[in-house]
Amino acid sequence: MTQHSTDATEARPATREATDWWRDAVIYQVYPRSFADSDGDGTGDLEGIRRRLPHLRDLGVDAVWLSPFYASPQADGGYDVADYRAVDPMYGSLLDADAVIRDAHGLGLRVIVDLVPNHSSDQHEWFRRAVAEGPGSPLRERYHFRPGKGAHGELPPNDWESIFGGPAWTRLPDGDWYLHLFAPEQPDFNWEHPAVADEFRSILRFWLDMGVDGFRVDVAHGMVKAEGLPDIGGGDQLKLLGNDVMPFFDQDGVHAIYRSWRTILDEYDGDRIFVAEAWTPTVERTANYVRPDELHQAFNFQYLGAPWEAGELRAIIDSSLDAMRPVGAPATWVLSNHDVTRHATRYANPQGLGTQIRTPGDRALGLRRARAATLLMLALPGSAYLYQGEELGLPDVTDLPDEVRQDPSFFRAQGQDGFRDGCRVPIPWTVDGPSYGFGDGGSWLPQPSTWGALSVEAQTGDPDSTLELYRAALAVRREQPGLGAGDRVEWQEGVPGGLLVFRRPGFACTVNTTGGPARIPAPGRVLLASSPVTVADGHIELPADTTVWWETT
Ligand code: NOJ
Repeated sequence: MTQHSTDATEARPATREATDWWRDAVIYQVYPRSFADSDGDGTGDLEGIRRRLPHLRDLGVDAVWLSPFYASPQADGGYDVADYRAVDPMYGSLLDADAVIRDAHGLGLRVIVDLVPNHSSDQHEWFRRAVAEGPGSPLRERYHFRPGKGAHGELPPNDWESIFGGPAWTRLPDGDWYLHLFAPEQPDFNWEHPAVADEFRSILRFWLDMGVDGFRVDVAHGMVKAEGLPDIGGGDQLKLLGNDVMPFFDQDGVHAIYRSWRTILDEYDGDRIFVAEAWTPTVERTANYVRPDELHQAFNFQYLGAPWEAGELRAIIDSSLDAMRPVGAPATWVLSNHDVTRHATRYANPQGLGTQIRTPGDRALGLRRARAATLLMLALPGSAYLYQGEELGLPDVTDLPDEVRQDPSFFRAQGQDGFRDGCRVPIPWTVDGPSYGFGDGGSWLPQPSTWGALSVEAQTGDPDSTLELYRAALAVRREQPGLGAGDRVEWQEGVPGGLLVFRRPGFACTVNTTGGPARIPAPGRVLLASSPVTVADGHIELPADTTVWWETT
């Protein structure tokens, strides 16, 4: 897998000096299993990613975030890590990881890797030995092992439920139970144990020494559990998640870990960053993770979950910026990732139904809104995250047969909220060919037969394509000094209902979230529009579900 005949030509100058690059960065998420397959085995790999890096350079993003590629039995798509310092053979080797990092840097792209500190795989050496050694093994203290309740220890130690459904505890044949907030193959570490903290400090250094520019921290809100692992006491725990402080999430003690990690990161050159996957009840509590001596960014899931509706979008944009301002961190924006239904499909369906949607809805409507939503997002102050394939306008694949599904939550929860495979289908690169250029063989999840027309090849050079819209938007964002900068949005008041208008020096953005056209004064010269627009007599008829960027004087 390591033939490094690079096609990484026409590199932008590599900019790795200490800057605040991340404050307005556009960061592209690669899900390695589904991005590009160099050896035709149907599964994406690191060499496939390396070969396709020029696509990301041409797209105009600043950094790439790689979802886990570490040694893993893949019980949860690699978020079950068996060895944090090894690459899974299905993805290649450490040499391949090194090649990706080097080539990315040569193209002016930074590289962020995933860190999974809340839990390991049940195949991690510590856990395997803890199980083998039996009750009383000191290695069991590095996880949460407990005797059960009930006369014979037959009941779980508390009432916590797994995020993937079912109890959060599994009993071993020797009688002990262990905690797993996710799948049983993902035992939670005990972060009170000094060996766990030491191990992760060492893992951070390992990847920093490899040259990565930062870490996306998985379940960043989960590592510390409330003293004594208290019962929650009834209620639908999945509904409480994200709305309430839970004894296993968003505990104040987690912040000490981040303060310790920050000192390590700051020893390294090149302005490296942490981004938190932290699900908290409020944006204010999310801000705690990005205080000046903790992490740099946190995903804005409140924004991701907002419906396509002007008032709601404005409220969440303002509250996000208001929450981040006191701690001096940039707001972040995200519309899609590997855990939610792609936004082209969310917006194709009735709004307000959450982030796991099972029906294709009105595809044309979904794409029109998705394009408009992207231009809105990329005009906001702060950093934006893109998920592979959204630049092609890909919809979720909502009709995958059950027998090909791999998402563990599909099986644990009898299909409830277990539809994450739909956004993980390998992406199309070419109009024809096996797996549309994903690789020379098949693809680990079947691609719809219509995907050739959505491929990078099909869309390149077509000015109306979603790919060219993304390329143009990112080019404008680079050229327009200040687009993405700042910490507030200057809204224009008194605009018709369903519209958003905001300005910054030299620039304006107008958004119509309604299903009908709206006539408004043209604020300047059109830079970019998510649907075709006409300006006449100093006015624009803003089409339904459309965003326009303007150059103003
Ligand atoms: C969040 C990841 O994004 C998701 O894919 C994974 O299943 C859970 N954390 C558990 O690691």
